[in-house]
Amino acid sequence: MADTHAEAWYLDRGILHQVLDRLRAVESRAELLQQTQALRQALADPSQPIHHVAATPAAVSVQAIFVLDALEQIEAAHTLERALYYVRRLQRGLLTVRTNTINDINLNRWKEYTHIITDSLWIEERRDRSGTHSADYWGNFIPQIPHQMMQRYTRSGDWVLDTFAGSGTTLIEARRLGRNALGVELQPAVAEQTSARVQSEPNHHAVHTSIHTGDSTTVDWAALLAQHGQQSAQLVLMHPPYFDIIRFSNDPRDLSNAASVEHFLQGLSQVAANVVPLLERGRFLVLVIGDTYTRGEWLPLGFWAMQAVQQHGLRLKSIVVKNFEDTAGKRSQKELWRYRALVGGFYVFKHEYIFIFQKL
Ligand SMILES: C[S@@+](CC[C@H](N)C(=O)[O-])C[C@H]1O[C@@H](n2cnc3c(N)ncnc32)[C@H](O)[C@@H]1O
Repeated sequence: MADTHAEAWYLDRGILHQVLDRLRAVESRAELLQQTQALRQALADPSQPIHHVAATPAAVSVQAIFVLDALEQIEAAHTLERALYYVRRLQRGLLTVRTNTINDINLNRWKEYTHIITDSLWIEERRDRSGTHSADYWGNFIPQIPHQMMQRYTRSGDWVLDTFAGSGTTLIEARRLGRNALGVELQPAVAEQTSARVQSEPNHHAVHTSIHTGDSTTVDWAALLAQHGQQSAQLVLMHPPYFDIIRFSNDPRDLSNAASVEHFLQGLSQVAANVVPLLERGRFLVLVIGDTYTRGEWLPLGFWAMQAVQQHGLRLKSIVVKNFEDTAGKRSQKELWRYRALVGGFYVFKHEYIFIFQKL
């Protein structure tokens, strides 16, 4: 049998107003219980006029669990006064929207956002392969990263800048979520391929998403934004090479070809210096990076990169540690690394960082 609690409902706004106003006017607990029971019966029957079959302007979209939990709480209240308090809260949750200035999350219904992660340790076993996302680009990030970041730190129609666009994971997610996005990628061939892939993702929200060939240390973000009548952006995503772990090209401007870790960090710092002025004050910049291992030494590249970026007028808000999902890597390779780790006294990389900064 289907679980009603997991259903999404579209409830008629007018009827909800009437029912909840009536509930608020009851004079006894018996009367209250009578009315909540009647409401439960109507909700349990999809043919009742309170139900719409799809989202319409006249309907309120809500997870069934939100309403059913609230009704349970109202019915279990020991006093009429307490029950009426819960009725008012349900009414507010259903019929009014309360957001802050950085996202579209309706805080009156925060319990519904179970898909939004708020913990600092992420174990993502599987990459989202839906739509035009492809796992082919070596060194890409999982779509869940830009997806989560845009839901937390942008509103519909906001502008997102991706300084290392690669295969366009951010741009595809932006398109799906109704955010505008501009990406810069150094390699022309990659940018061209990405552009085609991004354009093939349906654009239901009619947003602008484009990739530009360029060097993020010098690209003119202001000019790119100005082409769309914008002076600033509301989120920046940075997913640079992890120094030389993967060499992306032969281009000397490619940060994966930096002559040393110091040069890499200088380059990254320059990318931040170039983009942060375009970020709106109070808005967020996200840096995704891992550590590296060289000549028997673990180099905390992630934390060095964090410091290189933070100095550009940013406040550190969170550090998320995310696992590397299991790649199709050869089993023999994994075993080799395990053997090396046992011999060499180190641990095999299994995590990377998502640093979240707010512009001061
Ligand atoms: C870690 S990948 C980003 C992957 C991307 N997040 C995705 O999901 O496909 C880093 C990218 O930065 C590009 N890159 C390296 N140096 C750059 C620079 N100076 N300016 C712009 N892009 C650069 C590389 O070609 C590579 O595609």
